Amino acid sequence: MAIEAWFIDESDGDQRLPHHRSPPEFVSLDHLADVGVLYWKLNPSDYENDEELRKIREARGYNYMDLLDLCPEKVDNYEQKLKNFYTEHIHGDEEIRYCLEGSGYFDVRDKEDRWIRIWIKPGDLIVLPAGIYHRFTLDTSNYIKLMRLFVGEPVWTAFNRPQEDHPARKQYTGSLTEKAGVALAAH
Ligand SMILES: [Fe+2]
Repeated sequence: MAIEAWFIDESDGDQRLPHHRSPPEFVSLDHLADVGVLYWKLNPSDYENDEELRKIREARGYNYMDLLDLCPEKVDNYEQKLKNFYTEHIHGDEEIRYCLEGSGYFDVRDKEDRWIRIWIKPGDLIVLPAGIYHRFTLDTSNYIKLMRLFVGEPVWTAFNRPQEDHPARKQYTGSLTEKAGVALAAH
């Protein structure tokens, strides 16, 4: 099954809950592609020898790799860290995450500044483009094992919103305008 994504309600309450609208409003892969999010479904049980993963890493230059286990038992100040991950931010580079076990939510802003919640589960590899506003939270399972990929030496610096003058943000919003231009020209 393809990855699940939906527009969230903006109500307060536990960030680990799904926050579906009523009725739920699901978001297609095309809509995610529109905002520059890439997605692959891979075999998480074979990540060490996975030829498909190797090809993606080679094609996109993801030479760096590490693994991250997030759960209350393994992370100091778990509740505080969870809140930090959930602060809206951008990066100067892509954020590439491959879910190997457990699950969690990546929230990204679409062109109309609406939050889209992307539920990642084992086998889901997603790439968030540099400059997209986003945040992360675990879900109520309170466990996720992630592979982090990067081009070159990793930089994990987060720049909290607003970042309209950040070069990565400018480039990102520019790329969205270009895409809209292409779509119009095609009609
Ligand atoms: Fe991030």
